[in-house]
Amino acid sequence: MFSNILLTIAAPLTVLTQTAYAAPQAPMDGYGVIDIHWDLPLDPNNPTGETVPVTGTIQEAIAKMEAEHSGWNVSFTRGMSPPPAHPAAASLYQLPKPESYNCFGRWKPCGWADVYWGYTYLRRLPAEPRPRNGPGPGNCGRVSCSWNAAIWWCNDNSEDYTTTWGAIADGAEWLAAQGHCCDDSRPSWRVAGQGFYPGNWNVIVNADTC
Ligand SMILES: *[C@@H]1O[C@H](CO)[C@@H](O)[C@H](O)[C@H]1NC(C)=O
Repeated sequence: MFSNILLTIAAPLTVLTQTAYAAPQAPMDGYGVIDIHWDLPLDPNNPTGETVPVTGTIQEAIAKMEAEHSGWNVSFTRGMSPPPAHPAAASLYQLPKPESYNCFGRWKPCGWADVYWGYTYLRRLPAEPRPRNGPGPGNCGRVSCSWNAAIWWCNDNSEDYTTTWGAIADGAEWLAAQGHCCDDSRPSWRVAGQGFYPGNWNVIVNADTC
């Protein structure tokens, strides 16, 4: 069923690439969303153990796991640090630099801390199975969405593409870092942008309806 959905919405997303990506006023959520499929470990501390298939954003996946396996979320989020108190303390270490990127403009601002939680969750996922995206260009999946802050990854290849959760997290974190696509001029920092990576794929941080 998931692949049917994928095929059905691949066409509108192609339109999205040509129009909405170039036209900031067109909201991304008007074109349909490719939900991401996850195989989450029943025990977050045993990434190679039994897994459960879940569809949606990482937040929806966590909520579903918690609903069906009480205590799952506590195990999953254990040890995660809250966002740093100031963007200067945010990650400025060696994240892979995108080949090119653009900030704000067509991309609407998201709360920095919400983006932080999104990529922090992605980093907690087991390495396998990896995120896979159907043929592009502009085939996008929404991996994270909370408090109207979304992280997407998009495949611009004409065939399927596979990357890693860590690489998507790196892309969102790079955009969110001070001096990149982080507006730290107000107490509540904002982030929005798109970073392009070798292999013809990209990461987007954009406001969205979750
Ligand atoms: C999971 O735990 C985190 C941290 O305690 C909390 O912020 C979040 O709301 C929880 N999510 C769910 C779906 O229970």
